[in-house]
Amino acid sequence: MLDILFKRGTVVAPSGRFRADVGVRDGRIALLGEDLGAEAGELVDAGGKYILPGAVDAHVHLSMISNGVPTADDYFTGTRAAACGGTTTVIDYAAQRKGQGILESVGARIDMARGQACVDYAFHCILTDLHGGALLDEFGAAAAAGITSFKCFTVYKREGLMMADGDLSRVLVAAARHGILTNVHAENADLLYSRVASFLADGKTSAWYHYLSRPEFVEAEADRRVVHWAKALGVPVYLVHLACAEGLEAVAEARGQGFPVYAETCPQYLAFDSEVYKRPDGANFVCSPPIKGAASREALWRGLRTGSVSTVATDHCPFTLAQKAVGHGNFVDIPNGCPGVETMYPYMLSAAQAGKISLEKAVEVCAANPARLFGLPTKGAVAPGLDADLVLYDPDAHVTVTQTLMHSSTDHTIWEGLSLTGYPERVYARGALVFDRGRFTGHAGHGVYCKRVPGGALR
Ligand code: URP
Ligand code: ZN
Ligand code: ZN
Repeated sequence: MLDILFKRGTVVAPSGRFRADVGVRDGRIALLGEDLGAEAGELVDAGGKYILPGAVDAHVHLSMISNGVPTADDYFTGTRAAACGGTTTVIDYAAQRKGQGILESVGARIDMARGQACVDYAFHCILTDLHGGALLDEFGAAAAAGITSFKCFTVYKREGLMMADGDLSRVLVAAARHGILTNVHAENADLLYSRVASFLADGKTSAWYHYLSRPEFVEAEADRRVVHWAKALGVPVYLVHLACAEGLEAVAEARGQGFPVYAETCPQYLAFDSEVYKRPDGANFVCSPPIKGAASREALWRGLRTGSVSTVATDHCPFTLAQKAVGHGNFVDIPNGCPGVETMYPYMLSAAQAGKISLEKAVEVCAANPARLFGLPTKGAVAPGLDADLVLYDPDAHVTVTQTLMHSSTDHTIWEGLSLTGYPERVYARGALVFDRGRFTGHAGHGVYCKRVPGGALR
């Protein structure tokens, strides 16, 4: 006997869509096929609806302290928001403190999220200290423990996060040897620090100068350099929150030559352009890299259509209005980051309905690709044996995003007023109903830590 049987739905996969019934038992997809006659505890009429895999958001920051300022969302509220937007797995970051090991750093974060998360979760480890090279010897143990991705920074030098070029190249090579995918936040630190200093010296302190201190070329140079190394070293690399046309050109060229180079972009880079920083609420859009000009935005959409952008993730990193307002007189004091985990899948699916990309592509970049690249074989697709992380999506719903509908604990959203066609009607995380027609129905502790499988970037 099944627990749930979805009848007469349309399942969407990257390769196409098809009519099917979906049977769920013990949190997994047990049956998939047309006109299933099996007995079930609950029948759900999915006629006229899409049955989608839950999204896998490979880039969130929950319970993070940025320059002394805590993010508005913790593991409960951030994953509650995720669940309500159809995202059933999140990958957060465990930052290595100087002297700490990888397993130790990730272990501490697992302890923080345990009992709090409403959807499943994993952690990329942010590497900041190679212990003179000795840390490379821990990569094998990390892969065996299911930590299959690292993040390195070419920025945040003064914050102690930046990795020297030589160290980054060593990480790229050693990580690849163990099937670990290195993620890089690429911007040129020295260029942006010098631009910040000259704007401040001229009294140019508004949010617009956040953009001008790190515009297109400041990111593109670093994107290009990282892609160049990955090609020369023959290793995979994943550029997080890529936001500029020229960086994407480097990725597209490398991919065209057969190199395993991957770009992630975020909805804020697809929906807005740098003009938002001139608005009175420009501080709310401050994130790094900043949102770029309209030409980059259009290039990112083209990159999605042509396959040079592999994933869409949110970089969800919300701060309250009061926290953002601290930087009112000086853009360098604005905490970096925006909310987005609840709106990502609805936004991308609505854009698909409007013809910007196909629905299949939205499922591919929001669910299938991040699951594959980051080693989550039971996520990202609607198929027998996989986790029943399912979104019953109503393509005819009309929702206008407003803060009171959101489930994050921040007090505003940059997505305010966004008009969406289509919306998740119900969301299931491993078979449990976590969102039901506007209401959160999950609970803290339902989410479990996902031990991941190495080698996803090469399959
Ligand atoms: O502005 C951002 N993106 N804040 C989060 C940290 C990061 O670099 O991803
Ligand atoms: Zn980053
Ligand atoms: Zn981030």
